Amino acid sequence: TRVAVVFGGRSSEHEISCVTAGGVMSVIDTDRYEIVPIGITREGNWVLTSGDTERLAITDGRLPVVDATGMGLALPFDAPSELLLVEPGAVPERLGRVDVVLPLLHGPFGEDGTVQGLFEMMGARYAGAGVLASAASMDKVVSKALLAGHGIRQCGFVAATDRQWLRERKRVLDDIAELGGTVFVKPARAGSSVGVAKVNDATDTDTVIAAVEAAREHDPKVIVEQAIVGREIECGVLEALDGGAPEVSQPAEIHIADGFDFYDFEAKYLSTSSLTIPADLPAAAVEEVRRLAARTFEAVGCEGLARVDFFYGDDGKVYVNEINTMPGFTPTSAFPKMWAASGVDYPSLIDRILQTALR
Ligand code: DAL
Ligand code: MG
Repeated sequence: TRVAVVFGGRSSEHEISCVTAGGVMSVIDTDRYEIVPIGITREGNWVLTSGDTERLAITDGRLPVVDATGMGLALPFDAPSELLLVEPGAVPERLGRVDVVLPLLHGPFGEDGTVQGLFEMMGARYAGAGVLASAASMDKVVSKALLAGHGIRQCGFVAATDRQWLRERKRVLDDIAELGGTVFVKPARAGSSVGVAKVNDATDTDTVIAAVEAAREHDPKVIVEQAIVGREIECGVLEALDGGAPEVSQPAEIHIADGFDFYDFEAKYLSTSSLTIPADLPAAAVEEVRRLAARTFEAVGCEGLARVDFFYGDDGKVYVNEINTMPGFTPTSAFPKMWAASGVDYPSLIDRILQTALR
């Protein structure tokens, strides 16, 4: 079975996607799968890489990137429109047919339905969520609306589009102030906490404005979320191979390394932050997390895999924070670890995701 592993990409999570791909490619069963390692540069060029997994790791705190000159051969196209000229079911001519694409891409132009749409147009099978679920999950404002429609408990929030921020700023700031207390300011469509700031007082207008402007460097659409006081919990979901209800992993609790104010990029990937799996929560809370993980997966119409992130509030309630349709698979990532603790080791997990896509 030929698998095109696609990684890197145009989003701010380019490097994390590379680390994810390094992890995944180092455990794929090469007796069963032939890997075609395709990197997308930050500029959007697709290159056939060497697939050298050692280069796709965090080394001495340095993050890997796909580099058209350094990593491999440039393909005979550099615009996605040219990619559409290839025959259905095949990736670019020189690579021949592949049986399935594994888009290990995080963030915009990878996890947001755009590349999924490209694969649909090519008639290529691909792992993970489709166009709509990817797009809806990537956008924190849209996903919150969808989950609210399913009665799923979430934090309070205020969204601001570019127009609203430029034309209705006073109203937006009043709405944010009304959230009260501590808030998180985030680009609506990004991941790995890139562009996220914690503001300790929602009524501190100057600090809120600075945080919104910083988030807007990543996305003209911004979301401001009420902080939930409590513990940070994650849970893995896999589509059932037999068409049954989604399967959920044991949940994990995140323990943020000392010295970090919240689970930001550095705390996620470059620190001693750790996980407890299974999360040490009351049994009823574990059940609620697992039930809501499956419900969230279905509410957004996910396929293949997802990781749903939660807060277990000091009020004893479980809140859904967000859903990630292509969760990180780096060596420090929760998704593969939660599945390993649930009886699905890393190689089996990749196999399972590929087999689901090939069905
Ligand atoms: N967005 C990162 C990769 C995650 O959710 O794990
Ligand atoms: Mg995310």
